[in-house]
Amino acid sequence: MPPNMKRYGYGHQSISEADINIVVKAMRSEFLTQGPLVAKFEEALCQYTGAKYAVVVANGTVALHLAMLVLEIEPNDEVITSPNTFLASANCVVYANGKPKFADIDSATANIDPKNIEKQITQKTKAIIPVHFAGQSCDMQAIQNIAKKYNLKIIEDAAHAIGSNYKNTKVGSCKYSDLTTFSFHPVKTITTGEGGAIMTNDKNLYEKLLMLRSHGMTKNPKRLHKNDGQWYYEMQLLGYNGRLTDIQSALGISQLKRIDQFKSKRRKIVETYKTLLGNDERFSFLKEKLYSDACFHLCPLLVNFGVVKKTKREIFVELSSHGINLQVHYIPVHTQPFYKNYGYKLGDFPLSEEYYKKTMSLPLYTDLTQCDIKYITKIIQNIVK
Ligand SMILES: Cc1ncc(COP(=O)(O)O)c(C=O)c1O
Repeated sequence: MPPNMKRYGYGHQSISEADINIVVKAMRSEFLTQGPLVAKFEEALCQYTGAKYAVVVANGTVALHLAMLVLEIEPNDEVITSPNTFLASANCVVYANGKPKFADIDSATANIDPKNIEKQITQKTKAIIPVHFAGQSCDMQAIQNIAKKYNLKIIEDAAHAIGSNYKNTKVGSCKYSDLTTFSFHPVKTITTGEGGAIMTNDKNLYEKLLMLRSHGMTKNPKRLHKNDGQWYYEMQLLGYNGRLTDIQSALGISQLKRIDQFKSKRRKIVETYKTLLGNDERFSFLKEKLYSDACFHLCPLLVNFGVVKKTKREIFVELSSHGINLQVHYIPVHTQPFYKNYGYKLGDFPLSEEYYKKTMSLPLYTDLTQCDIKYITKIIQNIVK
């Protein structure tokens, strides 16, 4: 590959001068961490999503871990998630010594299919973690109906879906769930470097999450058993250091101001890919449901290997030589060697496995130009044969 060739990954941050300036200002301030910007970022997230409370944390994985702890998932409890997700959506159950269960996807959206959730419910099931894959919300009304019927908790893994709507409600509002988690990794729609958040409308969960984020400690006078003085704190739970810094919160505040702009750009890019590649028997795309207005995090291209002679491996190597480094979302979690320990094997969730074989995520990020997209689609048309 020529050294000066432009390279494309599947995701990339968009950093403005305003982002840089606000971070520099935070660095010159009194606090680098645990200062006023953490609460300001939380307020901004509540305002944007409509949820009552936000707890920002070190990353999306910590957000899921603390969600399991605050909902008191215990050894042998079962929690159902999608096989078509990043490892963290299932690993968080293992952190709490629970058992991850999977329910297969709807192939049209690659999201967990509510019909399959019900089949996985047992006496031990405590919660469901729907993952809003690629940014499109799961069918939350159907999932909430199931949760009510069986008295289950819902944690929306919205690592992909800040900015998305479900039935005209913002993902993160927790209208259909107990908790919603976000990730602010640089490949996501808004970034804080590393970072995440947990949203909720439940004050008790919120106050416990604040403790879990910081060693299980509290100074809240209403929660203390006694008070020896200004310095006094109590550790009431086993918590962690899962805090986000003021420097990161500054970047989050600034990025959130541009989210609507990011969303419309991302939607336009997906539309352009669909127009340029959609009318071709070699390719297809996921469908967006009528209830969804997604802020797309990913644009999976589905390749019809029935008519294409090359293998996925060959296609990836050839595209790389043109500077295009695609990714695959996702290797079904139940097929990972670790999850053999839980008795899972290839063949258990065939729709996710089929989906994995044909999917490849196209570059999708705000700073891509129309010229970039034309180049990428032309190379794909030439190579995928
Ligand atoms: C669906 C999903 N859940 C959780 C996470 C974990 O987020 P983080 O990388 O911020 O820990 C990711 C990250 O890629 C994700 O894609």
